[in-house]
Amino acid sequence: MNYVTLNDGHRIPQVGYGVYMMNGEEIARMVPKAVGAGYRHFDTANAYFNEVALGRALRDSGVPREELFVTSKLFPQSYPYDQCGPDIDATLERLGTDYLDLLLLHQPYGAYTEAWRALEDAVAAGKVRSIGLSNFPVHKTVEVMEVATIKPAVLQVEINPYWNQHELKERFAGMGLGDVTLEGWYPFGHGDKGLMEEPTLVEIARAHGVSVAQVIVRWALQEGDVVFPKTLSPEHLRQNIDVFGFELSDDEMARVNAIPQHAYYVVPEDAPDFVLAHNDYSKQI
Ligand SMILES: NC(=O)c1ccc[n+]([C@@H]2O[C@H](COP(=O)([O-])OP(=O)(O)OC[C@H]3O[C@@H](n4cnc5c(N)ncnc54)[C@H](OP(=O)(O)O)[C@@H]3O)[C@@H](O)[C@H]2O)c1
Repeated sequence: MNYVTLNDGHRIPQVGYGVYMMNGEEIARMVPKAVGAGYRHFDTANAYFNEVALGRALRDSGVPREELFVTSKLFPQSYPYDQCGPDIDATLERLGTDYLDLLLLHQPYGAYTEAWRALEDAVAAGKVRSIGLSNFPVHKTVEVMEVATIKPAVLQVEINPYWNQHELKERFAGMGLGDVTLEGWYPFGHGDKGLMEEPTLVEIARAHGVSVAQVIVRWALQEGDVVFPKTLSPEHLRQNIDVFGFELSDDEMARVNAIPQHAYYVVPEDAPDFVLAHNDYSKQI
């Protein structure tokens, strides 16, 4: 496994397993396989409603807690300062752990500057090691930076060969945020056939005798990003972490980075309905 050292000194496994939209049965079936295949980094959120199931599966795996890297995220309903502390404690309780490796503000809406102060308090209390943002555009990241005494360690955003985030990285570098690690969601475009059959990726995959998925994960690693593909297939699970036996050349990286760019999802300025709708985190599985 490759690790990235975050700007706060903590190390994160560069490939993880994202458990978005997985129910309790799927978590119970897949997480032991993931641990067996070598995954040690798991990405969930209070709005995925599966923290209890993930915590149980990780405890049952027998892998010592300190060998695991667990990320969760808070949805905006948790952001008001007085709500944030209790909701962090509830996430810890659901996961059955006394600390999170990484906690993110999931969406850039509501009282996010208050929430950032609460995240910093959780770091001081030893409940969280690293803190970061998810889906925040530059201007809202700047608002957080204005109240921050701890810089975000990561920003989790869409990253795939159709949306490589080079522009964002350049802007961050120009603002003194070049040491913020980017984590990529939708590495496979949420399973988009167009991406998985993109001719440039197919050619590179053939040249290395690997799958397009493996090329995408390898590309993300060489971009310096952290990635956690989601899959319900044991074969894909194994493949997606089997990316350390080959390397993309500079020319291959340049070819991937020359693919025309478009995002799958543009984060709206104002909270969309699906964000406003999530509010009862007691309904966890
Ligand atoms: N912060 C955010 O707002 C946010 C948003 C979205 C996602 N995320 C995080 O990012 C993670 C990944 O995102 P995602 O699940 O939406 O999309 P994804 O990983 O891009 O795509 C998942 C799809 O790719 C397919 N797939 C996986 N491995 C494959 C392989 N080796 N070959 C071919 N197809 C493969 C899966 O099908 P099979 O099951 O058949 O393999 C599934 O349909 C989530 O679990 C979550 O942790 C975060």
